[in-house]
Amino acid sequence: MTTPSKTATLSFDGKSFELPMYTPTAGPEVLDIRKLYAQAGVFTYDPGYTSTASCDSTITYIDGDEGILLHRGYPIDQLASKSHFLEVCYLLLYGELPSSAQLEDFETRVTRHTMIHEQMHNFFRGFRRDAHPMATMVGVVGAMSAFYHDSLDVSDPWQREVASIRLIAKMPTIAAMAYKYSIGQPFVYPRNDLDYAANFLHMCFSVPAETYHVNPIVSRAMDRILTLHADHEQNASTSTVRLASSSGANPFACIAAGIACLWGPAHGGANQACLEMLREIGTVDRIPEFIARAKDKNDPFRLMGFGHRVYKNTDPRAKVLKQSADEVLELLGVHDNPLLQVAKELEHVALNDPYFIEKKLFPNVDFYSGIILEAMGFPTSMFTPIFALSRTVGWVSQWKEMIADPQMKIGRPRQLYMGETARVYVDIENR
Ligand code: CMC
Repeated sequence: MTTPSKTATLSFDGKSFELPMYTPTAGPEVLDIRKLYAQAGVFTYDPGYTSTASCDSTITYIDGDEGILLHRGYPIDQLASKSHFLEVCYLLLYGELPSSAQLEDFETRVTRHTMIHEQMHNFFRGFRRDAHPMATMVGVVGAMSAFYHDSLDVSDPWQREVASIRLIAKMPTIAAMAYKYSIGQPFVYPRNDLDYAANFLHMCFSVPAETYHVNPIVSRAMDRILTLHADHEQNASTSTVRLASSSGANPFACIAAGIACLWGPAHGGANQACLEMLREIGTVDRIPEFIARAKDKNDPFRLMGFGHRVYKNTDPRAKVLKQSADEVLELLGVHDNPLLQVAKELEHVALNDPYFIEKKLFPNVDFYSGIILEAMGFPTSMFTPIFALSRTVGWVSQWKEMIADPQMKIGRPRQLYMGETARVYVDIENR
């Protein structure tokens, strides 16, 4: 933590308290309330963390008003167009872009860990075939702690490093196996001669009965989707990973907690929900009906893939994905995709509607990603698992940063208690 740049004065009940303030390298100034309760005997109240910095970090920065996303200072659009997923993984994990030798070494380390313990295959088989692949992933990733005992000691930097590489390397294998299991096809082993994205496609789409050639257009698009989802600051699933880890829990259990949180439709589950919504809308003439529902306070329906806690401008990832959707569908020979037409018109209508303008609701990363994933051949149930495998590096980077921070404490929020005060137990016959 940097030294305070100034102090703020909080006054109430005739008393004043000095609170240190920090000036970040970017973003709003931060008021340090850590000693507030000890000094003033009051808590702060911020249920959805809308005004709370839960940690200090050097990994990712978002300027929500300007629609800017930086990883270690590098804009996401530059990373999406010039870099590739494993290089971005290195950047997130170690803070700098790698040299050629560093990248080669990192890629070797990742590819050498792509297989999972053979006994885990039996574990998969315990799930029902119709389980959602996210349900399977939560279980299997949590179960990694039962298989990789030599990387559970979070106080050992070497074990943390091994666990990080294992998680990044094995997540595509686990996601692909969850998919194969759900469709009743045999598991496909990883191929280390393929790059990360191509290997994932191979494990999802190849079958033993015939040779599968990875389409380079599809693998480049896959790599771009992975890159765009790699990290996103202190979002709900990342904060879940940090909170779970703050107790000293092992990394596999913590990442499983992150996957569980990501699954929700307000977070990573929105990509599946968005495509299902576009299908339900079906044709552009039905858009006004759905826009009206999204604006109706008595209807729980929300425009999926729209709105964001931090972005009050277009999500920069959505910009890249919109362009990518056009390119990928064109290159795959998918012309006049009806879902893309509905999505574009829906975006146009919403962006010109006073409700969405006033509330600053713009398309987010989940708005166009599903269209690309569907064109690649993925069922909607695989959209959120693909988000989870991309985000694993973000979770791991944030987890490593937290564990290495000497200021780390167990996360333990307080509350605004509005329940009964102490009362005397009443025996059942007297109630
Ligand atoms: N459709 C209609 N109205 C909306 C939407 C939407 N998608 N999003 C927000 N609003 C309204 C909301 O009803 C509220 O109105 P009012 O002030 O009148 O009560 C206002 O906008 C603010 O919404 P909020 O729920 O208080 O905002 P939040 O920051 O807590 O929620 C959000 C952010 C992403 C959960 C929300 O915008 C949402 O539910 N969006 C749809 C789901 C979605 O696309 N999620 C993916 C997010 S990006 C990827 C990720 O994080 O994984």
